[in-house]
Amino acid sequence: MTVKLGLVGTGTVGGGCIDILKNHREEFKRHYGIDVELARVCSRNPEQAIEHGVEDIFTQDFHDILDDSDIDIVIELIGGTTVARDVVLGALRAGKNVVTANKALMATHGEEVMRTAEEAGKEIAFEASVGGGIPIIDPMKHSLIANRIDSVMGIVNGTTNYMLTRMAEDDMPYADVLAEAQAKGFAEADPTADVDGLDAAAKIAILASIAFNSRVTIDDVHAEGIRNITPLDLEIAKDMGYCVKLLAHAHRTEEGIDVRVHPTMLPLSHQLATVNGVYNAIYVVGDAVGETMFFGEGAGSGPAASAVMGDVLEVARHLQAGIPPFVGCTCTDKLPLVPMEE
Ligand code: HSE
Repeated sequence: MTVKLGLVGTGTVGGGCIDILKNHREEFKRHYGIDVELARVCSRNPEQAIEHGVEDIFTQDFHDILDDSDIDIVIELIGGTTVARDVVLGALRAGKNVVTANKALMATHGEEVMRTAEEAGKEIAFEASVGGGIPIIDPMKHSLIANRIDSVMGIVNGTTNYMLTRMAEDDMPYADVLAEAQAKGFAEADPTADVDGLDAAAKIAILASIAFNSRVTIDDVHAEGIRNITPLDLEIAKDMGYCVKLLAHAHRTEEGIDVRVHPTMLPLSHQLATVNGVYNAIYVVGDAVGETMFFGEGAGSGPAASAVMGDVLEVARHLQAGIPPFVGCTCTDKLPLVPMEE
């Protein structure tokens, strides 16, 4: 069986996925027996389709993919919560499996998406929505499933970690390092989501939902960004033996779930203090496993495409082997949240 893919979105991550398929498709077949074919590509931008050499399978209307009965997996990489929601829900209702990198969608409408997948009996996979190329959602849903997770904490935004690192190490002003992060393709289309901590808030909402089998949305997360941090603040912190990192926290407490994002002073000896540049790192503490840490490049075309294609190949393998979908916890509970102190 050849598993047919429909890709929606040909930006940074979509382009990375096309490259991976071009370079490794034959190996997927030879090494693992997983046979995938990019059958249709949708983008608003015909020039990007030409640039990636997919003009022969190109459409500007995502319905062409949803209505194509040959397509088995829809890959949603347009981002946002409007058209992307129509694509994801429409694809599931049309009987297709979905892979998405969309943290905003999963952090806002995650429950609806998971419920729709479960009702349709289809898979929804979203590894790339958190931590770029770092495997974190799959380990939490599978390898760590036997644990009661008590804590998830870490650096989950590559743009701000890159900015804080450059400001601290090279004394560069905020505006210049932001422009640099944008030029490198780390930042969101609207980088305020990065610098105001909202991108990290979406990611920790997704991780907290999985970790605690609860429904945590982006609106539940208190978020404070790095807009007001200057190179001088970082220099003073360093003189005192600290660095400043934008940390995302999700902890299980007796009062409920404590979820927040804010700049945090860390002793330079702390493990997270050594995580610099675009790298992300996520600590997960479980009652059986103890402390674990996941580390890697948190943003950029290759890392995100690696996570997307990992999901695609896993879903394709399930389809070929006739393995029924495992949606994970459909999160119908909502544990109480610890209120923020003023
Ligand atoms: N803008 C995000 C970041 C991209 O900088 O981490 C990956 O989600």
